[in-house]
Amino acid sequence: MAMIVQPMRSSDIDSVLEIEGASFVTPWHRNAFLYELENRNARNYIIRPDPVKIQNIGDGPRLYGYACFHVAANELHLLKMAVAPDMRKNNIAFQLLDACFRNAAADDLDWVFLEVRRSNASAIRLYEKLGFCRIAARCDYYRRPEGGREDALIMRKTLKGGNTWQ
Ligand SMILES: CC(C)(COP(=O)(O)OP(=O)(O)OC[C@H]1O[C@@H](n2cnc3c(N)ncnc32)[C@H](O)[C@@H]1OP(=O)(O)O)[C@@H](O)C(=O)NCCC(=O)NCCS
Repeated sequence: MAMIVQPMRSSDIDSVLEIEGASFVTPWHRNAFLYELENRNARNYIIRPDPVKIQNIGDGPRLYGYACFHVAANELHLLKMAVAPDMRKNNIAFQLLDACFRNAAADDLDWVFLEVRRSNASAIRLYEKLGFCRIAARCDYYRRPEGGREDALIMRKTLKGGNTWQ
C-alpha cells in the first residue's frame, strides 16, 4: 500500500475522531485535538493513502491513522496513536511512527518516550519492533474499563545523538 505521512490539519479531525472513538475507552474529544493543533510544542501527524495513487486504485481520501506528540527539550513524547480498526496489521502504525521519528531526528531530538498499558500487547510489540526498550513502570497508573487498575510501562527509544545509558 502506498501511503504518505503528513502533519495533521483541522480538516482531518472528523476522520481522526472516528478512529479515536473506535480505539479508546476514554477517547479525546474534538477540542483536545484542536488544542493540540494550536500547541507549538505539539507534533501531530496523520497517515493516509498516497493521493497520487488514489485515482488508480479507486480508494477514497480516508485517513488510516494518526499520532500526537509533545516536544520537551530534546525529547519527543508520544501521547496518542491509533490506526483504523479495519486497516490494522498492514504495517501502517510502523510506517507512521518510523516517519515521525525520522522527522524528529532531523529536528535534532535525541529520545522518544511513551507510556503504554501493560496489557496492550499489540502496541508493546510494535514499539519493541521500532527499537523501544522498557525502562520503568508506573504502578496502577491506568483505570481498567472493567474495574481496577493496571500498570503503565514507560518505554524509550534513542533517535540520534542521545547517550546510550540504559
Ligand atoms: C497498536 C496499533 C496502533 C497497531 O497498529 P497496526 O497498524 O495494526 O500495526 P502494524 O501493522 O504497523 O504492526 C507493526 C508490528 O506491531 C506488532 N503488532 C501490531 N498489531 C499486533 C497484534 N494485534 N498482535 C501482535 N503484534 C502486533 C507486530 O510486531 C507488528 O509487526 P509484524 O506484523 O511484522 O509482526 C493498533 O492496534 C491500534 O490502533 N490499537 C488501538 C489504539 C492503541 O492501542 N494505541 C496505542 C496506545 S496509545
